[in-house]
Amino acid sequence: MQKEIDTLKAEIAEAVTDAADLIALEEVRVSTLGKKGSVSGLMKGLGKMTPEERKEFGPLLNALKNDVANTIADRKNTLDAAELEVRLASERLDVTLEPVARPAGRIHPISQVMDEINEIFAGLGFDVAEGPDLEDDFHNFTALNIPPEHPARQMHDTFYLKPDENGDRKVLRTHTSPVQIRTMVAENPPIRIIAPGRTYRSDSDATHTPMFHQVEGLVIDKTTHLGHLKGCLNAFLTAFFEVEEVKMRFRPSYFPFTEPSMEVDVGCSFAGGEVKIGQGDDWLEILGCGMVNPKVLEACGLDPNEYQGFAFGCGIDRLAMLKYGMNDLRAFFDADLRWLKQYGFASLDVPTIAGGLSR
Ligand code: DAH
Repeated sequence: MQKEIDTLKAEIAEAVTDAADLIALEEVRVSTLGKKGSVSGLMKGLGKMTPEERKEFGPLLNALKNDVANTIADRKNTLDAAELEVRLASERLDVTLEPVARPAGRIHPISQVMDEINEIFAGLGFDVAEGPDLEDDFHNFTALNIPPEHPARQMHDTFYLKPDENGDRKVLRTHTSPVQIRTMVAENPPIRIIAPGRTYRSDSDATHTPMFHQVEGLVIDKTTHLGHLKGCLNAFLTAFFEVEEVKMRFRPSYFPFTEPSMEVDVGCSFAGGEVKIGQGDDWLEILGCGMVNPKVLEACGLDPNEYQGFAFGCGIDRLAMLKYGMNDLRAFFDADLRWLKQYGFASLDVPTIAGGLSR
C-alpha cells in the first residue's frame, strides 16, 4: 500500500508539473481529487478495511490527499501569476506617448489673424460688430457720403446683383464700412466697435482677389479726437506685429466718409530679403482712417454738433501676409492642403494677449 501511495504521489506530481495551463491543471485535479479521481478512489477503500488497517493507512491517505491538494494549489498560483504577467505585458500603456489621434485640420491664417485682431481690440474695450455680405446701396455707398454720381463708386469695381422690382440693385459689399452705418443706426453712442469680414471687388491679380477681408473700426462719443485715433492705431499695430514700437506716418488722403482723411504707413525694413515691421527706413501703407464725416453722422440720425469720432479700415489679408511672411495673396484662396499644412495654425493655438498672439 505504501508503495502504491508513493507511486501515485510521484505520478500526480509529474502530471501537475506537466500541466501547461489552468485548464490542464483542472483536469489533473478532477482526475485525482474529483469524485471519481484516483486519490478519492483510494480514500473510499478505507471503508472496507479492518480497524487496524484503517489506523495504519488512514493517516497515510489523508497525507496523500493534502499533499496532492497543496501541489495543485502551488501550481495554480504559478500559472495564475504567469497568465497575469502575459496580460500586463499585452495591455501595457505608455502614458508618456503623444495621443495618436491628433487633430489633422489647421486654422487658416486669415481666421487666425482675425482672432488676433479681435483679441487685441477686445483688450481695448471694443465690441465686434457684423453686417451682411449682401448690402444695399444705402449702407454701402449713400450713407457713407458716396452719392450715386460720386466718382468713388467707380473706384470700387462693384459686383452688382440684378435689380429687384423697384429697380434697386443689391451689391456684394465693397468694404466693411457699411457696418459703421448699421452700428450707428442701431446703437446710441458711446460706440466702440470693430467689424472684421469679407469684402468683394471685381479685381484679380497677384495682389487682388475678388473676395478679400477687411476690418473696420469705429469710435463715436462726444470728445474723441485725432490723438485718440493715433494712439489706438499705435496700440493695435505694436500688439499685432508683436514689437515694442511701430513707426507710423500719417499722410493726408481722401475718403468720402471721413474728414480729414489719412492713410497710415508703418516703418519697415527689407534687409536680408525679409520684411520687418516697426523700424527701418522704408514705409508700407497699411490702412485708411480719419474723423467720421459729419454728413455720415447725420445720415445715421446722430447730431454732428453733439457727437464725433474716428474710423479706420484695414486689409486683413495684407496684414496676414506681412506678419507671417506669405507673398502670394491668391494662395490664401486656392484651398491647397499642402499650403494650409505649411501656413495653417494648430486648432488649439488660440491667440491671447496674455499667452502670446502667435505662439
Ligand atoms: N472703406 C475704405 C476702403 O475700402 C477703407 C477705409 C478708409 C475705411 C478710411 C475707413 C476709413 O473707415 O476711415 O478702401
